[in-house]
Amino acid sequence: MNIDPLHYDVLIVGAGGAGLRAALAAAEEGARVAVLSKSLLGKAHTVMAEGGIAAALGNLDPYDSFDTHFYDTMKAGHFLNNYRMVSLYTQEAPDRVLELETWGAVFDRTEDGRIMQRPFGAHSFRRLAHVGDSTGKELIRTLEYKILATKRVDVYPEVITTRLFLDDNGRAAGAFCYQRDDGRFLIFSAHAVIMASGGWGRVYKVSSNSWESTGDGAAISFRAGAELMDMEMVQFHPTGMVWPPGVRGILVTEGVRGEGGLLFNSQNERFMLRYDPERKELSARDVVSRSIFREVQAGRGTPHGGAWLDISHKGPAYIKRKLPTMYEQFLKLADLDITRERFEVAPTTHYTMGGLRVEAETGATNIEGLYACGETAAGLHGGNRLGGNSLGDLLVFGRRAGLAAAAYAARRPGTSSLSYSSIEEERRRVLAPFAIESGENPYLIHAQLQQLMSTYAGIMRSGTSLTDGLGHLERLSERANRMSADGGLHFNPGWGLVFDVQNMLTLARAILTGARERRESRGAHWRTDYPDEDPEEGRRNIVQTLGPDGRIKVRDEPVPEMPPDLRRLFDDPVSPGVKRQREEASRARGSEGA
Ligand code: FUM
Repeated sequence: MNIDPLHYDVLIVGAGGAGLRAALAAAEEGARVAVLSKSLLGKAHTVMAEGGIAAALGNLDPYDSFDTHFYDTMKAGHFLNNYRMVSLYTQEAPDRVLELETWGAVFDRTEDGRIMQRPFGAHSFRRLAHVGDSTGKELIRTLEYKILATKRVDVYPEVITTRLFLDDNGRAAGAFCYQRDDGRFLIFSAHAVIMASGGWGRVYKVSSNSWESTGDGAAISFRAGAELMDMEMVQFHPTGMVWPPGVRGILVTEGVRGEGGLLFNSQNERFMLRYDPERKELSARDVVSRSIFREVQAGRGTPHGGAWLDISHKGPAYIKRKLPTMYEQFLKLADLDITRERFEVAPTTHYTMGGLRVEAETGATNIEGLYACGETAAGLHGGNRLGGNSLGDLLVFGRRAGLAAAAYAARRPGTSSLSYSSIEEERRRVLAPFAIESGENPYLIHAQLQQLMSTYAGIMRSGTSLTDGLGHLERLSERANRMSADGGLHFNPGWGLVFDVQNMLTLARAILTGARERRESRGAHWRTDYPDEDPEEGRRNIVQTLGPDGRIKVRDEPVPEMPPDLRRLFDDPVSPGVKRQREEASRARGSEGA
């Protein structure tokens, strides 16, 4: 095979918010950067974080501060989070938002011209900087324009990455890819590789994720020796569309509840008053999802198995101004006017909190020269992610990974060497599906995988369901070894799906393994045989590696312990900002009375 590798300092797999932010940071450091986009630039799951970017700017609530955001994030993550990542995130997010503004992001504004912030579930204050209900889209647009104006960054659209190459010293050295539009193979060599390919929500049947979210970066890194962590933690966003069937799972932004939307069961009962009387509809996502699930299980679900969400009391003008995408989405896809009618919602797979284990400051993985950021990396969100913390995550840690990868690349002179035999081996593997006669259909395997995961490792799990799931998965994987493809190399989605399914099978196994291993309920991980949190279990992150024999090895990694000054924040049942606000109010009342 005669393919000359394309050489870069930093290779980034993924062109969502994390990948683009990392590319900007690396380029600013002088690195030559390649960004591989699975589809067209600008189309990424980032756009599905609609409601906003969580950052303690304090524009509406002056008592908000990074320590309060820290407190909320750790609590929502049920303390499985890496506190150092949370600390970096909460301190740096405001700067990243302001920087985005200087790059042209058009945020909604307060009357006096500051960035508008809205309430979201389990945040102590109005904290989400937003652009109506299309914040992710605006974020991507802004980064995309910035990238196009940046020298030293080449974006390769429609590129699927099938393998991460290591050099003879075990360092990340490049990747094998093919271009979807013409089937051409591309070989990249690089001193540093950043995995920023998002999550793997397509492993499940009902999902807010589009076809790209198949965990390619995490799976190929895992196969190359990288560690995965807390894979059992999958976020089921409480509100996906339910009806008609073709739109099931499409996201209904938490912004609807943030703007005052109320949830009802079939008996017109505002059931969140029972599950979380204080925060109600704005409880944490894991709580609201389980509450809807429980209502449906108890026979109080809506006609198509969900709950009613109603925002109509806010009036058409307000709804069309603050939630224009939702208004259009329901009108076009469900022939329903949300300014007049309530609508059905149910949990949908939205986000994967687990992922590649990384170092907090740099996103470095256990493979030298390999970095990860955004949804591909684990640690920041712990057992449950706060809404709005994903857009902030990819800005803060995308930048950090880009800087670290560029610095690392600068220390490695020359070009990374790739072995001809590993390139040739991968070329043969990638073409193999065309040689299998009467093989398995990748679409069918994918559908069965999604059904399996939804049945055995969904919102509710048990030791038995997870063991059964692993058994079924093993049999499915055996069949998947014989997935075949027809036709040519140009735009052949069936062939592409073979690699997506291979990646999803790998990650599904890690989800089932992690979920069986975690013998407690914590955050998004709800086990009926262990219904409570177990303090001992909560002290460990579950780390998985893939042995050369293809078996998964599991080990415990102690959850990093917070220093006493941070630990002390949690002695109080309310966050530091709310406490300050209450103290101030009581002082004011005192001086009024005096
Ligand atoms: O509901 C939403 O708008 C999603 C936001 C997020 O996942 O951060």
